[in-house]
Amino acid sequence: MEKIILTGDRPTGRLHLGHYVGSLKRRVELQNSGEYDKIFIMIADAQALTDNADNPEKVRQNIVEVALDYRSVGLDPEKSTLFIQSMVPELTELTFYYANLVTVSRLQRNPTVKSEIQMRNFETSIPVGFFTYPISQAADITAFKATTVPVGEDQMPMLEQCQEIVRKFNSVYGEALVEPKILLPSNSACLRLPGTDGKAKMSKSLGNCIYLSDSADAVKEAIMKRMYTDPLHINVADPGHIEGNMVFTYLDAFSNQAQLEAYLPGYANLDEVKEHYKRGGLGDVKLKRFLINVLEDELAPIRARRAEYEKDIPAVYDILKKGTEAAHEVAAKTLSEVKAAMKINYFDDVELIKAQSEKYQRN
Ligand code: TRP
Repeated sequence: MEKIILTGDRPTGRLHLGHYVGSLKRRVELQNSGEYDKIFIMIADAQALTDNADNPEKVRQNIVEVALDYRSVGLDPEKSTLFIQSMVPELTELTFYYANLVTVSRLQRNPTVKSEIQMRNFETSIPVGFFTYPISQAADITAFKATTVPVGEDQMPMLEQCQEIVRKFNSVYGEALVEPKILLPSNSACLRLPGTDGKAKMSKSLGNCIYLSDSADAVKEAIMKRMYTDPLHINVADPGHIEGNMVFTYLDAFSNQAQLEAYLPGYANLDEVKEHYKRGGLGDVKLKRFLINVLEDELAPIRARRAEYEKDIPAVYDILKKGTEAAHEVAAKTLSEVKAAMKINYFDDVELIKAQSEKYQRN
């Protein structure tokens, strides 16, 4: 069986470090591993509209932001098909048929939907499109017969819902769909990178993000002025706490041994740094400078590539257009198989027309 990846992002803002460690970095590694036959990376604009229906301009503007972020982290159109969700109408059609296989109560139990309803105070005034986006996500995945979906941990319930839809479809209509597997980040510190303020998640509305496209000064400021450390660690000599201290959380997610030796010499490993901090005598500013260096190693090349790609925006659109055409072809093939399995391919089915003629010629 072919190994196929599908994943994507909602174009509701520039991509940030949470996206990067949770998913983007891994995607690029997978892309370059040569282990996958096909890779599809989708800008999920239709999904973004499920809770931004009144703000299409925001979605429109962010398509190119996300595409620039994709290119600058190293996603390569020669190896990965980059495309726009709404321009592949087969995805909508699949969603409509899959909707028959999912109950309202099952969607209400989907933990992601549940928590997003709470977060946005939707209660029952939730848009139907938003409520059913797990179904649409199953369409995204199955249209490309994806075997592997590399996403953050928060997408786990979406994958489970997709797997259920696939099983249900295959048992009712015959084996037409492929059941995907989720691929989570390997470093546990990357499972869910908190915001710089230590709140659960990086999110634009909380103002706690570091964006891939932020300038070096903006990154420095976010760390020096806004990063949450240990409020009890007032003087350098005070004993400090590691848990909930974002500088350590980020160092766990981003730093390596070579960087430790280069930027904070004198420690054998990060655990020794943590021990020193706990004992007291290691200041926040010193650690923050270390973190800034670590992040700059990662972000400076991304920023430089972005500046290049920004010079030719039509080329970015052209990549998306070509990718979308290729994606459309694949999804159309799956849709025709799905319709055949569901017996709604009336005009393609010679046997059906023959059998019907016989039935009505009987007398
Ligand atoms: N829900 C994903 C996000 O918010 C985006 C997405 C849409 C996606 N369809 C997908 C991810 C299919 C993986 C597979 O980031």
